[in-house]
Amino acid sequence: MTHVTQDDGLAGTVTARVPAKVNLQLSVGPLRDDGYHDLVTVFHAVSLFDEVTVRMADRTSVVVSGEGGPAVPLGPANLAVRAAVALARATGRRSKGAGGVRIEIRKRIPVAAGLAGGSADAAAALVACNELWHAGLNNSELTHIGAQIGSDVPFALTGGTAVGIGRGERLTRALVSGSYQWVLAFGATGLATPDVFAACDRLRAARGARDGEAPAVPAPKLSTELMAALRSGDPAAVGPLLTNDLQPAALSLQPLLRRALSAGKEHGALGAIVSGSGPTCAFLAADPDAARDLAVAITGAGVCRAVVQVSGPAPGACVVESRALHP
Ligand code: C5P
Repeated sequence: MTHVTQDDGLAGTVTARVPAKVNLQLSVGPLRDDGYHDLVTVFHAVSLFDEVTVRMADRTSVVVSGEGGPAVPLGPANLAVRAAVALARATGRRSKGAGGVRIEIRKRIPVAAGLAGGSADAAAALVACNELWHAGLNNSELTHIGAQIGSDVPFALTGGTAVGIGRGERLTRALVSGSYQWVLAFGATGLATPDVFAACDRLRAARGARDGEAPAVPAPKLSTELMAALRSGDPAAVGPLLTNDLQPAALSLQPLLRRALSAGKEHGALGAIVSGSGPTCAFLAADPDAARDLAVAITGAGVCRAVVQVSGPAPGACVVESRALHP
C-alpha cells in the first residue's frame, strides 16, 4: 500500500476493486412480511471486476463510466453513494460535515444483470472510504453497514464462495477446492431484481391454483450434494448440481434466454444456469481451453449481447491503490 502526501493530483484518493457474483444454488422460500424472501444460496465470486475510486470532496457525488454506465443512477439511489453516506454517518463524519466524497465507478459488471454489480459498487465504496477516512472499521462492522444497503453487499465484501441465508446477507464461508472456469453471456436488456422475485411468486401461485391446493412453498435447504462436489473440486460433478429457483421467472420475463442456455449445453457446458435474477447466463467449463471454445461457440450462436470468460472463486472487495493522506 502506497501512502503519499505530495500534491501529484492523486493525493487523497483510494481505489478499490470488487468482483461480480454468480449463484451456484439459489433456493427461494416463501415471501416474507417485509417483502423479502428467505433464501439459501451459494454465492461464488468471479473475476469480473468493477473499480471504485474515492476522494475527499465538500459534498458527495458520483460519476460512472464503462459497461452500462448511463443506466446507473447518479443521485441518492446510487448504492455506492448510499454506502458512503451510511459509513460517514456510522463513523460520525457526517454530523461534523466531513463526510463528503467524490466517487468514480468504472464498470465492467453489467447493470441489472443478476451479477450483483450495484451491490459490488457499494461494497467497494465501503472499503475505499474506510481507508480514505482512516475510519478503521473491521470487516464485520463494514458487513453490518453493507447489509442495510443491499442483501448482496456482505458477499461482495467477503468474496470467495459462501453460503448465504436470511435475505442472503448472513454468510458462512464454503470449503471449495480448485478453481472454476466460467463463460458469462450478457443479455440485451436488464431485469430488475424485484420484478423477477414477483414473477417467481406469481408462477408459484398459478401452479398452486392449477393443482387445486394452496401454494405451500417449502423452506429452502442447502444442497449437500453441491457442497460435496465443491469440496471435491471437480467441475464435472458441480455442473449438473447448479440450481436457481428464479430461473423459471427470469425465463418467463425473457423467453429468449432459453436459446442461450440451450446453445451453452449444446456446445459442451458442464452446467448452464441463469445467474441470480438474470438475465446473465453462466456456463461452467472443464478448463480454460474448454471455456475459450465455449465462449467462441456461444458468441457464434448469436444468442446474447456479449460474452466474457472468467474464473472463480475471486477475492472480495479490496483496496488496490491508496493515496490516502495521513490523518
Ligand atoms: O436487498 P436488495 O435491495 O438487493 O433487494 C432488492 C429486491 O429484491 C428487494 O426489494 C426484494 O424485492 C427482492 N429480494 C427478495 N428477497 C431477497 C432479496 C431480494 O425478495 N432475499
